[in-house]
Amino acid sequence: MKILAIDTSCDDTSVAISEDLRILANVFWSKIKTHEKWGGVVPNEAKRQHEEFLDPAIEESLNQSALKLEEIDAIAVTYGPGLAVALEAGVKKAKELASNYKKPLIPVNHMIGHIYSNLSRDINNNSLSGLTEFKFPLFALTISGGHTDLYLMKNHFEFEHLAYTLDDAIGESFDKVGRLLGLGFPAGAKIELLAQAGDPNRYAFPRPMSNSQEFRWSYSGLKTAVLYEVKKIQGEYHSKPGKNVYKLEDESSKLTEKETVDLAASFQQAAIETLLNKIEMAYKKYSDVKTIVIGGGVIANTTLRDQLKNLSDNYGVEIYYPKPMWLCTDNAAMIATAAHFYFDYGLVEKNIDSLQRVPGLSI
Ligand code: KG4
Ligand code: ZN
Repeated sequence: MKILAIDTSCDDTSVAISEDLRILANVFWSKIKTHEKWGGVVPNEAKRQHEEFLDPAIEESLNQSALKLEEIDAIAVTYGPGLAVALEAGVKKAKELASNYKKPLIPVNHMIGHIYSNLSRDINNNSLSGLTEFKFPLFALTISGGHTDLYLMKNHFEFEHLAYTLDDAIGESFDKVGRLLGLGFPAGAKIELLAQAGDPNRYAFPRPMSNSQEFRWSYSGLKTAVLYEVKKIQGEYHSKPGKNVYKLEDESSKLTEKETVDLAASFQQAAIETLLNKIEMAYKKYSDVKTIVIGGGVIANTTLRDQLKNLSDNYGVEIYYPKPMWLCTDNAAMIATAAHFYFDYGLVEKNIDSLQRVPGLSI
């Protein structure tokens, strides 16, 4: 089955074509430079660029896979969660294609897409994560700019929500600390690069919620701890309760290079340990779970990948995530892969005209 999939959940315009689980094409149009200037995604700018780039991206994906739209069997699209105006552009285009070419329309949850990215295969039918099928029950972990969630998956599309973040998502904390260090947006990959040259033990940042037995994460305290450390280094920190109203902005100007890399490394280590503490807790509680699949931009982080390996060795569990970086951050290939299973389970839109984007969609 050949699927053309669209993802416009945030700032990348992505279109992919798959045949069963093989990814034939995965095209990106990224607008990161515009957003870098503003330190975040500018919604109307994202919308305008999606509208401009969707047609050429569709054409490019068809060219790369040497197919015509007539030969595609179904259209898939991310309908949430994400930025409303950005999602709107993709949903509108997918509806137009499905009705003009009389194809089934498959609305896909972006976070389910991240989870199913583990089943995407390359052109030669090799799994891009090393996993060929889901072995249930399994843990599905989504770690991105907007999400930090752990699910117990008992079957396809059967999710039990075990853990979530009380405030910031892990990727969001990388982006906020990055802003603090003057790294632009998004900052995850840049923090990782700086951290390689830094000392992860120099600054004693907290591991929030780690002593609690609750399945909850919290990342906003960690970001604030980094902010206070920066202020302390700059000599502007006065611990008068109630008097410290700090704004998160570019505070990096007075930091030395050594301080910057040590801050990045110490923050990254605290963020990773905070994440892994709860995963370890989940393994202890659900001992019948032998597999964990991970999706979302933060799994691009190689230090996290290394530390997951230790967890896997200690607990005898199998850990999978998409190996190529392009399949970790937002992409339409994962939407095509998820759509393949949506179709198998009859999860196809009955009334094409009535499909709406759902910015706050949850699993
Ligand atoms: O999945 P994604 O592309 O978009 C969302 O659905 O949010 O994830 C983006 C997030 C951003 O917060 C970005 O800073 C983070 O993933 N990220 C990383 C790395 N690469 C991307 N975080 C840590 N280390 C990385 N190497
Ligand atoms: Zn995403």
